[in-house]
Amino acid sequence: MSLKDVIIKERLPRHIAVIMDGNGRWAKKQGNARIFGHKNAMKAVRDVCEACAELGVDYLTLYAFSTENWNRPKMEVMGLMDLLVSAINTETDTLIKNNIRLNAIGRLTDLPEKVLVNLKDAIDRTKDNTGLTLTLALSYSSKVELVEAVQSVARDIEAGKISADSIDASVISDHLYTRGMPDPDLLIRTSGEFRISNFMLWQLAYSELYFTPILWPDFDKEELYKAIVDYQQRERRFGMTSEQIG
Ligand code: IPE
Ligand code: IPE
Ligand code: MG
Repeated sequence: MSLKDVIIKERLPRHIAVIMDGNGRWAKKQGNARIFGHKNAMKAVRDVCEACAELGVDYLTLYAFSTENWNRPKMEVMGLMDLLVSAINTETDTLIKNNIRLNAIGRLTDLPEKVLVNLKDAIDRTKDNTGLTLTLALSYSSKVELVEAVQSVARDIEAGKISADSIDASVISDHLYTRGMPDPDLLIRTSGEFRISNFMLWQLAYSELYFTPILWPDFDKEELYKAIVDYQQRERRFGMTSEQIG
């Protein structure tokens, strides 16, 4: 039996975010170079996208590269950028076939030209799709996102468009990269690390967190179903009491 059959269709997380971690350790465990782990991460990405599309999840956000990851050895960074280009090129047709709309958040202008060009093209080719929205977080830092949001709000004040007193949570949300998207209901982090690593600090305020020791290249549809079933067994109280929710 698949755990898929246990999932309650009416209570699906609308937005799932994933910190895809553990590629390097996965490769090292078998005596291979870290890049081998990144190469083998694609299958898990494909599996999770497909499963979300099949289930009817509206938003899937994948943390693929942080601003801090630029500090890794140059060879690894270059290898990752090359993999990104080839993944975009080989997978865009599948995205179109599955009605998936591609989106990207982060300091995209930091990316090498060839990544940016291919990414923009794929985003454009999938822009009219109406199924799952797949967002890649690339050169992403939540702190940078918040700094840019504050700068942008400050500029609106300088221009006389809004007053300082009118700033509320929705104004901040509207200035983030994720504007227009619902906050994640479920955050999954693989590889047994219990940290957020500068990911969606604002948006995760009330997300359910799910940590698994599975290394990302071993993550598959069944692992995703397991996370969703776990999520569905939780009570989201948003500060209220159990009685109020029930
Ligand atoms: C996640 O796997 C992929 C990226 C951060 C790009 P890692 O490369 O972080 O793998 P570990 O955590 O070192 O095993
Ligand atoms: C987080 O993984 C970033 C991505 C998955 C893209 P890292 O491997 O970079 O995180 P830390 O450094 O272990 O916190
Ligand atoms: Mg890691």
